[in-house]
Amino acid sequence: MRPSFQLRPARLYDAAELHALQQPFVAQGLLLPRSPRYLCENIRDYVVAVAPDGRLAGGGALHFLDGDVAEVQSLAVAPRFRGAGLGSRLVSALLASAREHQAWKVFALTHAPEFFLRLGFTRTVMAELPQKLTHDCLGCPKLANCQQVPVIADVFALRLPAAASSGFGAEAPLEQPWEAAV
Ligand SMILES: CC(C)(COP(=O)(O)OP(=O)(O)OC[C@H]1O[C@@H](n2cnc3c(N)ncnc32)[C@H](O)[C@@H]1OP(=O)(O)O)[C@@H](O)C(=O)NCCC(=O)NCCS
Repeated sequence: MRPSFQLRPARLYDAAELHALQQPFVAQGLLLPRSPRYLCENIRDYVVAVAPDGRLAGGGALHFLDGDVAEVQSLAVAPRFRGAGLGSRLVSALLASAREHQAWKVFALTHAPEFFLRLGFTRTVMAELPQKLTHDCLGCPKLANCQQVPVIADVFALRLPAAASSGFGAEAPLEQPWEAAV
């Protein structure tokens, strides 16, 4: 039987476990390093997936930039829970949060573009993301040799089942997936 996971907004007490979850992917160059202090300061960006044993199975962040733009960051699923739809559910929850906050453009810089394309994102170019360039990229030592692929979703063009909610501000489980509009 597939284990069931609870998705919920992250709490400060999740920061240490989130940090540990991210470390193997940071070591592989798949995620940018985030210190425990950074995680605490930005914990409201994060949604986590909790396994039946109470441990974190995954997590990801939605970081707001200028105007109506937000970035999916630090998306990670523990290797033993891969391929069970958890990464997709985390992105769905982050997109629901984007809609609630009226961030209509959501992008990611990723080594896994195909994963995002399946969820309704399209490829873009960095020139379309001036907020990211000026906020982060220009100060990044990897700028000249960046291997990350930019992808973007137009939140207007995605439809959300009526009952779906990010659950931010409530303890409701985040069960409803987003679907790409056809
Ligand atoms: C990317 C990641 C979050 C996906 O999590 P997951 O729970 O395995 O994803 P899902 O089960 O929802 O996968 C949905 C589909 O995407 C595919 N997929 C998953 N990871 C993928 C990857 N890295 N590249 C391409 N496709 C991927 C799966 O094969 C699956 O397709 P299928 O249904 O045909 O088998 C996870 O692989 C991970 O933590 N990767 C390391 C960190 C990382 O690269 N994060 C993204 C940076 S923004």
